Amino acid sequence: MAGVRERTQVGIIGAGPGGLLLARLLKIHGVDSVILEARTRDYVESRIRAGVLEQGTVSLLEEAGVADRLHREGLVHDGVEIAADGRRFRIDFRDLTGKTVTVYGQTEVTKDLIAARLAGDGAIVWEAADVTPHDVDSDRPRLTYRLAGREHELQCDFIAGCDGYHGVSRNCVPSFLRQEFERVYPFGWLGILADVPPCSDELIYARHEDGFALASMRSRTRSRYYIQCSLDDDIAEWSDERIWAELKRRFGPEVAPHIVTGPSIEKSIAPLRSFVSTPMQHGRLFLAGDSAHIVPPTGAKGLNLAASDVHYLCRALVAHYRRGDDRLLGSYGETALARVWKAERFSWWMTSMLHKFHDEASFEAQMQRAELAYLADSRAAQTALAENYVGLPF
Ligand code: APR
Ligand code: PHB
Repeated sequence: MAGVRERTQVGIIGAGPGGLLLARLLKIHGVDSVILEARTRDYVESRIRAGVLEQGTVSLLEEAGVADRLHREGLVHDGVEIAADGRRFRIDFRDLTGKTVTVYGQTEVTKDLIAARLAGDGAIVWEAADVTPHDVDSDRPRLTYRLAGREHELQCDFIAGCDGYHGVSRNCVPSFLRQEFERVYPFGWLGILADVPPCSDELIYARHEDGFALASMRSRTRSRYYIQCSLDDDIAEWSDERIWAELKRRFGPEVAPHIVTGPSIEKSIAPLRSFVSTPMQHGRLFLAGDSAHIVPPTGAKGLNLAASDVHYLCRALVAHYRRGDDRLLGSYGETALARVWKAERFSWWMTSMLHKFHDEASFEAQMQRAELAYLADSRAAQTALAENYVGLPF
């Protein structure tokens, strides 16, 4: 092959939080990697994403040495509120589990990881076009790509597919071996970001007969709200005024007076899906994060699942390089999937309990209301929600 030949230990596809965190943790354990990213740095750092970190994810970011700004600017939350049927109740994470979550935007996590990477850890190849894995079921996998019109080949020992749902790596698992599980929800989330103070110190998840609503935040001066909407809706039909009015309606008379309105700095509609693709490894290709699984955002698990995959994959690769022990690599997929399925179940359950699927007069709607009434009155039910929300052990 004409063109440029490079070599590294782990070739990582994708500079999202998954690929960046993996590269950083590997570096700390003395393992080299090269990250190939299709987009520009600006694009990657400008994506608006969720921002609730499990305690385990915060510990991983601490281990990676990129938690200083998170601890300075992140908001530690001891609980979350649920509003339904004119009733508000609180799930006290700290009391029920001894753990907390941290509200810190995924965009900020990505920026911190990129800054650390570029401060000396190694290369991020931005705008790498046509990244293609080769020979993944051999002991000499390669990644080819084009950069500034030139062909490149990256020889490596292992390939980590951290290229998200629309990436190339998942399709490198032969289709006859691949199993895909999916649930597409019949609605979307309309999100609005505005530089206004949040309406509450903690997140509020609301079930309303006209649909779900969520009050979240990025800081004490920047709020993020979501409402359930139709997937056919056009964002142009949703003026800021209409969104604020709908939010006040769904949160009800107790919360509405605390909602400070203002001009949106971003608003968009996103679909909701649950998706898992197995196996999460094939030969020397290992999938981590959205390349292998997607959760609806109701459980705030997307980033945290990418982090737990990376935890398992890094541990396995370090065992290979440090001790020549490949047992963890052999069981990576199984180990990661066990935690993925539990987070998929929790995210599906939160989505099923809090969104409008049927008319209020339906049996299903009464089941939702009964589930929420039980949750409001049962410490056991609240504990189950809390331990899943703060993050199940690795
Ligand atoms: N070649 C190179 N890079 C690619 C390719 C490709 N063919 N396809 C996608 N990428 C890049 C994307 O541009 C993106 O920067 O891979 C990266 C994947 O990042 P994410 O989609 O953020 O996935 P992941 O790192 O697994 O993080 C999961 O992100 O979407 C949220 O809710 C999700 O919180 C979760 C988190
Ligand atoms: C967010 O802050 O964007 C957010 C928080 C919690 C969720 C989803 C999104 O469940």
